[in-house]
Amino acid sequence: MKKIIRVWDLPIRVFHWLLVLCIVGSLISVNLGGNAMEWHAYFGYSVLTLLIFRITWGFVGSTHARFSSFFPSLKNILNYLQGKAPHVLGHNPLGAISVFALLLALSIQALTGLFVDDEIAFQGPFAKYVSNSTVSLFSKVHYWNHWLIYTLITIHIAAIIYYQKFKGADLLKPMISGDKEIDPSEEANYLPSDLGRASKDGALQRGIALMLLSLIAVVVGYLITSS
Ligand code: HEM
Ligand code: HEM
Repeated sequence: MKKIIRVWDLPIRVFHWLLVLCIVGSLISVNLGGNAMEWHAYFGYSVLTLLIFRITWGFVGSTHARFSSFFPSLKNILNYLQGKAPHVLGHNPLGAISVFALLLALSIQALTGLFVDDEIAFQGPFAKYVSNSTVSLFSKVHYWNHWLIYTLITIHIAAIIYYQKFKGADLLKPMISGDKEIDPSEEANYLPSDLGRASKDGALQRGIALMLLSLIAVVVGYLITSS
């Protein structure tokens, strides 16, 4: 019988799919331009809220959500590349690099967005507090960084397809259901300690996550509307 282990708690899954939704929304709206720029900003504020939540959850969340459980060391990365590393339930060392790169690039995008000016009709809410040269610098970063984001997202999706097609590893299902299913014949590929580490995903964890996300949303909303 397959072993079913909760890997991604509900907060991580909700974070992931809302993030995808908001980024797609922000990219569609910025390409529409004009009045849709207002929507670009709303999606951007939502991305910022989600990222602050995810970073906090990386310290206080369940086992596999914690950065400390997948922070890649050079040794881990090299072992993984040489095929010597055991299988892991959470992000593997290469996946972890891509997760940190995505979180960093998206944070830079959402934060610089607060200070940019399209020189037509739309300004980020904090642009008025900084000098023109800072606005111009942040606008350039906001522009160039979007290419990095496109690249990282393309690699991210290509990697998931690669694992599915060539390594027979379905990473997508756990990001939907939360669970990894381990066949008894595969158990030996994992460290026994890893197989014993499920993520807690009960009403308490979910309640704390919801309160945290709501609190962050209120603070971000307040800072933006009162600026
Ligand atoms: C992570 C979230 C965000 C993403 C992925 C994103 C992405 C982008 C992209 C792709 C562009 C178009 C660059 C170009 O082709 O010229 C852009 C431009 C712009 N974004 Fe964002 N953005 C985000 C957040 C924000 C936020 C929070 C704001 C402000 C509230 C904002 C304000 C703007 C403005 C005003 C422009 C036009 C800049 C110009 O024309 O120079 N963005 N953004
Ligand atoms: C806007 C596009 C996307 C962004 C920005 C994005 C971002 C992320 C991030 C930040 C994580 C880490 C989750 C965490 O630990 O918090 C992640 C994981 C994951 N994403 Fe995405 N994602 C995107 C699109 C997609 C799509 C379209 C799919 C499905 C094909 C997908 C499938 C996954 C899976 C399966 C994982 C878990 C990978 C693993 O097991 O290590 N993502 N994504």
